[in-house]
Amino acid sequence: MPSIADEIDLLVVSADSALVAANSALALEEWRVSYLGPSGQLKSIMARLKDAPRDEKPLLGKRLNELKGHLESSFESRKSVTATAPSASTIDVTEPGQSLGQGRRHILSRTIDEIVDVFGRMGFSVADGPEIEDEWHNFTALNIPEGHPARDASDNFYMGDEAGLKRLLRTQTSTVQIRAMESQPLPLKVVAVGRVYRPDTHDATHFSMFHQIEGLCIDRALSLVDLKTALLQFARSYFGPEAEVRMRPSFFPFTEPSAEVDMKMHIRGQLQWVEIGGCGMVDPNVLTAVGIDPEQWRGYAFGLGVERIAMRRYGISDIRWLFENDARFLRQF
Ligand code: DAH
Repeated sequence: MPSIADEIDLLVVSADSALVAANSALALEEWRVSYLGPSGQLKSIMARLKDAPRDEKPLLGKRLNELKGHLESSFESRKSVTATAPSASTIDVTEPGQSLGQGRRHILSRTIDEIVDVFGRMGFSVADGPEIEDEWHNFTALNIPEGHPARDASDNFYMGDEAGLKRLLRTQTSTVQIRAMESQPLPLKVVAVGRVYRPDTHDATHFSMFHQIEGLCIDRALSLVDLKTALLQFARSYFGPEAEVRMRPSFFPFTEPSAEVDMKMHIRGQLQWVEIGGCGMVDPNVLTAVGIDPEQWRGYAFGLGVERIAMRRYGISDIRWLFENDARFLRQF
């Protein structure tokens, strides 16, 4: 076994070099425990002092005290150095600027903002409604009675009952028509944008969540001419002065008459008809459901698909790409 004097010499060398290498708070603490702790190396040499020859004890005792003082003061000064030294995460403000790459808004968000902006300039204000709806707003008030196939469990995401009403993820933004008529004074001119949900199998043209923009205008004397004018005004402002609107007779429970809306727009240099939604004159049953007298007031309404507009406009052939958040795809727009 080495003598106590040799051990003291060895300990000074190993403690000093280990301390230089300790450059984090955690490493420093480990060093302190290893050398100065209650079961540390200093203590274990001190414990051997009682076995030393009696005449060497005073000198060894003095050296051990000096060793203790050396370890303690080295520890304190190292601690103050590591506390002020820059860590790896410190920003060097003198370093030449590194480009972090600029983010941008999602192509759908931008499309929505642009569409709402156009309708805003046409005098529509923005209305809002919840994505979790009750059957009154999603069906009953929209003239879709109990037992109607549109209420089928396989075509809706039902979410249980509240106060005797079934709740579901809304399948159309037409729900906001009802909410606006229930809460706002007449006349009324609103648009609402938001997510709608349908249990569709995902493929290139179907997704279980997508966005619609809904429009509703209620006034004393409105006709199909006002509806078509509003849609044409939108088409020309959004798609350009050559855009056209075509209405094809159709059926929706909440409008009478009803039509499908096509808009003619430039697609990669060519003017093409694109089907983008539905529209019509608000059915008198819908007005009555929310306490509006259909003898006094009339309305027109429309609902357009946001993804459809964005996909045709930007040549996107698969709806799933819009929701996969692959930056390589999104960066193109
Ligand atoms: N809500 C219909 C749908 O999701 C679209 C629609 C058609 C909305 C006619 C309307 C409308 O406001 O008048 O298929």
